[in-house]
Amino acid sequence: MARNAWFETVAEAQRRAKKRLPSSVYGALVAGSEKGLTIDDNLAAFGELGFAPHVAGHQAERDLSTTVMGIPISLPVIISPTGVQAVHPDGEVAVARAAANRGTIMGLSSFASKSVEDVGAANPNLFFQMYWSGTREAMLQRMDRARAAGAKGLIATLDWSFSNGRDWGSPTIPEKMSLKTMLSFAPNVLPHPQWLWDFAKAGRIPDLTAPNLTPPGGEAPTFFGAYYEWMQTPPPSWEDVEWLRREWGGPFMLKGVTRVDDARRAVDAGVTAISVSNHGGNNLDGTPASIRVLQSVVEVVNDQIEIVLDGGIRRGSDVAKALALGARAVMIGRAYLWGLAANGQAGVENVLDLMRGGLDSAVLGLGHSSVHELSPEDLYIPPTFARTLGAPVPVKFP
Ligand SMILES: Cc1cc2nc3c(=O)[nH]c(=O)nc-3n(C[C@H](O)[C@H](O)[C@H](O)COP(=O)(O)O)c2cc1C
Repeated sequence: MARNAWFETVAEAQRRAKKRLPSSVYGALVAGSEKGLTIDDNLAAFGELGFAPHVAGHQAERDLSTTVMGIPISLPVIISPTGVQAVHPDGEVAVARAAANRGTIMGLSSFASKSVEDVGAANPNLFFQMYWSGTREAMLQRMDRARAAGAKGLIATLDWSFSNGRDWGSPTIPEKMSLKTMLSFAPNVLPHPQWLWDFAKAGRIPDLTAPNLTPPGGEAPTFFGAYYEWMQTPPPSWEDVEWLRREWGGPFMLKGVTRVDDARRAVDAGVTAISVSNHGGNNLDGTPASIRVLQSVVEVVNDQIEIVLDGGIRRGSDVAKALALGARAVMIGRAYLWGLAANGQAGVENVLDLMRGGLDSAVLGLGHSSVHELSPEDLYIPPTFARTLGAPVPVKFP
């Protein structure tokens, strides 16, 4: 009898992903940087928050729906953009379909392995993510293409500072995938026949190019070519953020905010939303868990722009905690990658169902009829939990 492909927690999906994926692919998803302080804190911090449930007076009907940047979603969980290379042959298209089936938004990385056109066809509620990379002309062309493919929002991820050595070692990723490179990775790949079989069935080898960064009339750059362009691009100023927002001309999310003064500047730059995020602990190690800084950011700017929380979400109760601390919704990264690796599109749907179920249990136990009623009073917050980064008011230079 076939094993039940359904999994009951994200932790189980991760165990299956570890078994199924070659160690280099699994290692690229686990990632983290340097000593792993931030990625560990992203997860540990949720464990420090407790619930304050009621014993009776619960609500029979509970509404989990909300909106993010004007788009109605059936649960306050959206897909964070990840460069999903080589996890599954259907890659981001499978993730987008799963998100559409579960009534939520797909965030597509500009480093993704599938084209924005294919992903937009799979889920019309699409946000396209860009780094500050390449010339302004190239950025304008990429935005035009995403807009034409139906993207309804732009996510600008600006927190990356190219610090990604790992004490436990980084996986080797080839420049380009060919059958020859796959064979040279044989010791890594052969113990994972199911992963190889998935690609063989689909008649494809893992794609290590970035098709959404293709210059007009040119070829898609390799992942490393795209990374090199990005590293060579002088980092953006706040005026550049404003320029990007203006040129996009629609709903605009700034991803990677952790400081209260940056949050204020984001408001001044006219963004629609900020994602309180430390890039899932993949970036500047030692940055506190994003959930620890959430409340300080909410206090400073919540009435002016939308705030979503990104980083460390592994279960529905984590979603409830983030909402109780003031987030409008959360973004998930590794949670859906584990689902995708474990069981393709159905695995991502499984993860979104777990998020929904866990969130609903928390809303029920806390005596609410809507996610909008969640508040800090629903939680036990240890006195040492929160962090405030940056000056509470923007520094005014003469
Ligand atoms: C394998 C991997 C690739 C990622 N690629 C991108 C990317 O291309 N663009 C981006 O904005 N963030 C990227 N991120 C960060 C995620 O969008 C998100 O911030 C992070 O995964 C959230 O933390 P979580 O994994 O604990 O949910 C990536 C994360 C991972 C794990």
